[in-house]
Amino acid sequence: MFLKQWVKKSKTESLSERIERTKQMDVPSHIAIIMDGNGRWARKRSLPRIAGHHEGMKVVRKITKLANELGVNTLTLYAFSTENWKRPKDEVNYLMTLPEQFLDVYLPELVEKNVQVRMMGMREQIPPHTLRAVGKAIDDTKKNTGMILNFALNYGSRLEILNAIKTIVNDAKNGIINENDLNDELFSQYLMTKDYRDPDLLIRTSGEIRLSNFMLWQIAYTELWFTDVLWPDFNEHLFLDAIEQYQKRSRRFGGI
Ligand code: FPP
Repeated sequence: MFLKQWVKKSKTESLSERIERTKQMDVPSHIAIIMDGNGRWARKRSLPRIAGHHEGMKVVRKITKLANELGVNTLTLYAFSTENWKRPKDEVNYLMTLPEQFLDVYLPELVEKNVQVRMMGMREQIPPHTLRAVGKAIDDTKKNTGMILNFALNYGSRLEILNAIKTIVNDAKNGIINENDLNDELFSQYLMTKDYRDPDLLIRTSGEIRLSNFMLWQIAYTELWFTDVLWPDFNEHLFLDAIEQYQKRSRRFGGI
């Protein structure tokens, strides 16, 4: 009887009711997403891979809007990895236009919704037109105080960690820090995420159960949630599923 009622309730509950219910509980402060499966989504429809990336961009908007509405503090999206340069040139070029395409349309909405745009990644290889678009968005939203929308663009965790170690070694040599002061907290200050809390929840779409060089240090105690759904098919209900699952978990951080 109880199960029947529950099934009925979950079927009849509207998205806005579900959002309200989710908001009443512990909403993850920092959510990180590996948005995977764009290529397979396109292939299933006999479309070029870039069609999948374009569709994926629309999902970024939906999920950003919802995360903001839920009161998420930081949403980090893996948009391009340091390994993605291995893809065909045309695809890489297209991926590098996505931030512009996205921001051209949605920047006014982000400004209005009080969202702060940020970027983390190795800036050197990113084309100037992409950096300009992201730089403008960062600038236009820098007075905002709401959710941080952090694009991981040309980001790779191993390189981030190696660069941190190099700087630490230098700072130790120059007497800026003392070897004995080095702990989790100080190390975190040398990472690109130094201004953010570690993610509470990591979502990966498309059925791949791996981390692909994403925030390896930061996710030590993050709750992981995987779905077979391809990123362009991801939606608000699935995002809420992930958060609801997170809310049911008991986080002990190594304690009892
Ligand atoms: C992985 O799917 C996806 C990417 C490498 C790009 C992700 C980018 C977006 C979702 C759009 C980003 C939008 C903005 C606003 C920057 P894949 O190509 O590896 O898919 P596959 O594994 O099925 O081939």
